[in-house]
Amino acid sequence: RKRVVVFISGGGSNMMALLKATAAPDYPAEIVAVIADKADAGGLAKAAAEGIATFALVRKDFTSKDAHEEAILSQLEALSPDIICLAGYMRLLSGRFIQRYEGRIINIHPSLLPLFPGLHTHQRAIDAGMRVAGCTVHFVTEGMDEGPVIGQAAVPVLTGDTADALAARVLTVEHQLYPQSLRLLAEGKVGMEDGKAISLARTAAAHGR
Ligand code: GAR
Repeated sequence: RKRVVVFISGGGSNMMALLKATAAPDYPAEIVAVIADKADAGGLAKAAAEGIATFALVRKDFTSKDAHEEAILSQLEALSPDIICLAGYMRLLSGRFIQRYEGRIINIHPSLLPLFPGLHTHQRAIDAGMRVAGCTVHFVTEGMDEGPVIGQAAVPVLTGDTADALAARVLTVEHQLYPQSLRLLAEGKVGMEDGKAISLARTAAAHGR
């Protein structure tokens, strides 16, 4: 089973969905630790209650972004993950960090990328008059919310939707999509090659499989 470390900043509902999925005996990956950049990230207590090792590495405890990432990297050395899942981790990783785990870091973003990268995605989707919204799991590259797409799931935008109502609807499909996408990566069915934005899933789709 592939070793997975999950990065969070908040409540960790996606982390919990991954934890639940990976508990199945036939799942090809296991979560070995959760790392948060906030000491009060709600997900930390939830992970600990499930017996998962947790680490809070808070940005303000370090003098620079580099020093913060260095501390995370040395923690990771000890954990030797095969895959890193960003699950509501609200911090941009540097190119140096990403290169260290090239093709092995994935992220979930609550929009149908490349539409609405960045913050306030749900309000922006509503303001744009979208009738569908959704979420994307993608490989992490240096650009924010860029990188090849592994999977997407869509939901309707309903008349009168607020950003919160839409976020909750999208979140329910995030909880299905993320475990499905992690499974693909852990089984080697999707990958990134030569640091390029190449997804085997896309190639497979292009061949109509
Ligand atoms: C999720 O909706 C996730 O897609 C989003 O934050 C939320 C975290 O919720 N991530 C981003 O916006 C990343 N740019 P959770 O802590 O309950 O999983």
